[in-house]
Amino acid sequence: MKNIAVFASGFGSNFESIVQAVNDGMLNCNCKVLVTDKANAYCVDRANNHGIEVISFNPKDYGTRQECEKMLVKKLQDRGIDLIVFAGYMRIVTSELISAYPNKIVNIHPALLPAFKGAHAIEDSFNYGVKVFGVTIHFVNEETDGGKIISQRSFDYVEGETIEQVEEKIHKIEHVLYVETLKKLLEE
Ligand code: GRF
Repeated sequence: MKNIAVFASGFGSNFESIVQAVNDGMLNCNCKVLVTDKANAYCVDRANNHGIEVISFNPKDYGTRQECEKMLVKKLQDRGIDLIVFAGYMRIVTSELISAYPNKIVNIHPALLPAFKGAHAIEDSFNYGVKVFGVTIHFVNEETDGGKIISQRSFDYVEGETIEQVEEKIHKIEHVLYVETLKKLLEE
């Protein structure tokens, strides 16, 4: 059975839905570890509730991003991690991590890439007035939100909806699409 590591920096609702899918037998893998750059984030509480190991680091303790990722790669390899799943991980990664896990790092983005890259995709797309919102899951390369697309799902904007309502729909889709996509990737 494959081992996955989830990387998260915040609330961790995608992490939670992945763990739930593993526990329900929908995903055939071990969710071995949560990696985070934010020791106080809620995703850490979620990992603790599920008895999942947490690797927490402070980027400021490392001279460079590469140095920090070297430490992470060692820890991931020690734990036999096969696939890395970014779920709200707010750091840009370098070739140090990417070359250690070629085509084995995936990310979820709350917009239809290549439109609206970056950390404020929902707000940006809402303010732009888009009429079709969506979610993208893609491989991670050195360009932020720039790797090859694996799956996407969209929905039409209903006139009058608030950004909060749109956001809720996006998160609902994320939780389903990530599990479906990971299922396929794990079967490859
Ligand atoms: C999600 O919207 C994801 O697309 C983006 O960050 C958010 C993380 O949400 N990359 P959560 O921490 O999983 O609740």
